[in-house]
Amino acid sequence: MSQTQMKNIVLIGFMGCGKSTVGKVLAKRLQLPVEDTDKLIEAREGRTISDIFAKEGEGYFRDLETGLLQEISAESKVRILSVGGGTPVRLENRKLIKQCGLVIYLRVCPETVYERVKHDTKRPLLQCDDPLGKIRELMASREDAYNECADIIVDVDEKSVEMVVSEIIVRL
Ligand code: S3P
Repeated sequence: MSQTQMKNIVLIGFMGCGKSTVGKVLAKRLQLPVEDTDKLIEAREGRTISDIFAKEGEGYFRDLETGLLQEISAESKVRILSVGGGTPVRLENRKLIKQCGLVIYLRVCPETVYERVKHDTKRPLLQCDDPLGKIRELMASREDAYNECADIIVDVDEKSVEMVVSEIIVRL
């Protein structure tokens, strides 16, 4: 547990793996502040991720993620930080994520993600004709990046948020 007193805990994983929800509960249990890069970006930009993707394109959003991680990695504040599902794809981001602290990868299977996000309209990358196919394709292409970043991997399928949080805590 001593690591949590010195470092951020960074939650990574595919869309719908539960980073934000797990982050909030974990933060409460460890009495740490919680932040989410998607929410920080939306607040700074004064618009939603969907708007940013639609008006500026994905590359612009990815640059915002990198800039934010550069700032966070230089700060001494300790918190639970959840990052967007695509953040670890960039090599530079993977380095920054590792610099930020202890990295926990919430691993999920495509079918679970699909069930969780099928009615969601806020994830621009999944607004397509075949969201399950897209989830499978994106997940396969990102798996190595997630694994490369991770200090701890937690499988989340069929587990409640409380179960996931408890598993994280015993493994810190
Ligand atoms: C994205 C995941 C989203 C958000 C954006 C892009 C991705 O975050 O950053 O829509 O590329 O996987 P969540 O993982 O919190 O849904």
